[in-house]
Amino acid sequence: MTRSRYSTVAIALHWLIGLAIIGNLIGGLTHDAFPREQRGLIMALHKSFGLTILVLSLARLGWRLANPPPPLPDYMTPLETALAKVTHWGFYALMLAMPLTGWAMASLGKRETSYFWLFDVPRLPVDPALKGFFGEAHEILGWGTIALLVLHVGAVAKHHWFDRDNMLARMLPRR
Ligand code: HEM
Ligand code: HEM
Repeated sequence: MTRSRYSTVAIALHWLIGLAIIGNLIGGLTHDAFPREQRGLIMALHKSFGLTILVLSLARLGWRLANPPPPLPDYMTPLETALAKVTHWGFYALMLAMPLTGWAMASLGKRETSYFWLFDVPRLPVDPALKGFFGEAHEILGWGTIALLVLHVGAVAKHHWFDRDNMLARMLPRR
């Protein structure tokens, strides 16, 4: 059966992960501006939320592969359809690559990484020579995420206000 809306699971995961990623982008880019004591707290939350994003994204990817999304409207041009696909799959790749490069970086840090003060996160077995690489990759991919987000929100706004279709409604909980 072809659906006309996203499933409740896909909707819940989309907004949970989306919110957490936006929070992590803001925390990651601004933590330097805070006093030392607050910086530690911001980064502890950044790492814990980031690892949560990794787990939720794996679940989301599994769900996505098993449950095809509702089809894109047929009045979209081939270029628009291709852009939507590149943005969506780019997001899935970033949802895994951002936490993994962050975790790799944290694995080479002096201090242990705690998951919400509950337990220490195991270190990934990464080569210490790659610390700079993971740091650069994490930062560049972060800017890539922001670029996709601008494109994504711009596209949704166009569909909602210009095409006046149900693109936004089908990703919102049913009222
Ligand atoms: C970093 C944050 C976000 C990420 C990573 C993200 C990711 C995604 C992905 C991967 C899809 C495609 C789902 C699929 O078909 O497999 C999607 C769809 C969608 N997103 Fe986001 N999103 C984010 C933020 C937002 C925001 C802020 C809005 C609000 C305007 C939004 C609105 C939508 C809508 C309406 C769809 C459905 C598109 C369709 O029906 O084809 N997203 N998002
Ligand atoms: C989707 C999840 C994540 C997003 C969107 C994200 C985003 C960011 C951004 C934008 C920065 C600033 C980059 C810069 O200007 O240098 C940053 C820094 C950082 N992130 Fe993440 N991050 C995520 C997950 C993680 C995870 C899971 C960890 C570790 C477990 C982590 C550890 C770090 C560290 C150690 C820094 C460097 C802080 C410093 O400047 O000393 N991140 N992150």
